[in-house]
Amino acid sequence: MTNSISREPRPSILLIGASRGLGAAMSAEFLKRGWNVTGTVRGDVRTELHDLADAHAGRVEIERLDVTEQAQIAALRDRLSGRSFDILFVNAGTANANQHETIADVSTQEFVRVMLTNALAPMRVIEVLQGLVPANGLIGVMSSGQGSIASNEKGKHEVYRGSKSALNQYMRSYAARHAGESRALMLLAPGWIRTALGGPEAPFSLDETVPDIVKALLSKRGKPGLEYLDRMGRTVPW
Ligand SMILES: NC(=O)c1ccc[n+]([C@@H]2O[C@H](COP(=O)([O-])OP(=O)(O)OC[C@H]3O[C@@H](n4cnc5c(N)ncnc54)[C@H](OP(=O)(O)O)[C@@H]3O)[C@@H](O)[C@H]2O)c1
Repeated sequence: MTNSISREPRPSILLIGASRGLGAAMSAEFLKRGWNVTGTVRGDVRTELHDLADAHAGRVEIERLDVTEQAQIAALRDRLSGRSFDILFVNAGTANANQHETIADVSTQEFVRVMLTNALAPMRVIEVLQGLVPANGLIGVMSSGQGSIASNEKGKHEVYRGSKSALNQYMRSYAARHAGESRALMLLAPGWIRTALGGPEAPFSLDETVPDIVKALLSKRGKPGLEYLDRMGRTVPW
């Protein structure tokens, strides 16, 4: 879409959902650590990723993807055909507009939108783009501590929780299908962070958390198989 990337030998990440929030902050952190970033945005509007591209000439490539559109995922694979990324990370995610509503109250349309965006779409992205990641690479997805069934003793955020639990389950099935392969697979629980999705009440800022989030991802490289980890690299109970 914009800014062709220079071919200097730097590690590279394909980051799905990099326009703002955690995705943009992770892009900035990877750039700081010397990586090249190919990030996706949904629309035509200028985003934080465009600012990063301007500030890091030749190291940021911007692609277009709405993860809920299957044809767009296939088109992205075709555009990136022949390329290789050390990490594929699917960050894009959403919550139901009224996070206080229970599963008893949510409309069918809103339920389907959240499940499609948070559970089905990330798996489709991984299935279609996995060939861009070499055998020693890492495929990761942004889950949430709220996806943990074992930790759910207080309820709340029912629709969102269910979507991330479904994502975790689908990743486990993906890992089972790919057992014995050398790729590292990761479900990341970043913590509750102040973004548009996390809201102003969240205890942590992006600055406080994103360096650890990126460190946790990098630490998982070279460790085959699926783990569900928080940003300090600790196992989250399923
Ligand atoms: N913040 C937290 O406390 C927290 C905690 C646990 C997990 N997470 C997870 O972290 C991820 C990022 O969340 P965030 O807090 O950074 O939220 P955010 O600021 O609302 O950002 C959401 C990101 O996802 C993208 N996105 C949403 N729907 C998409 C779609 N259909 N296709 C492509 N991109 C789409 C958005 O792109 P647009 O700009 O185009 O809308 C944006 O880049 C999500 O998966 C979220 O569930 C967040």
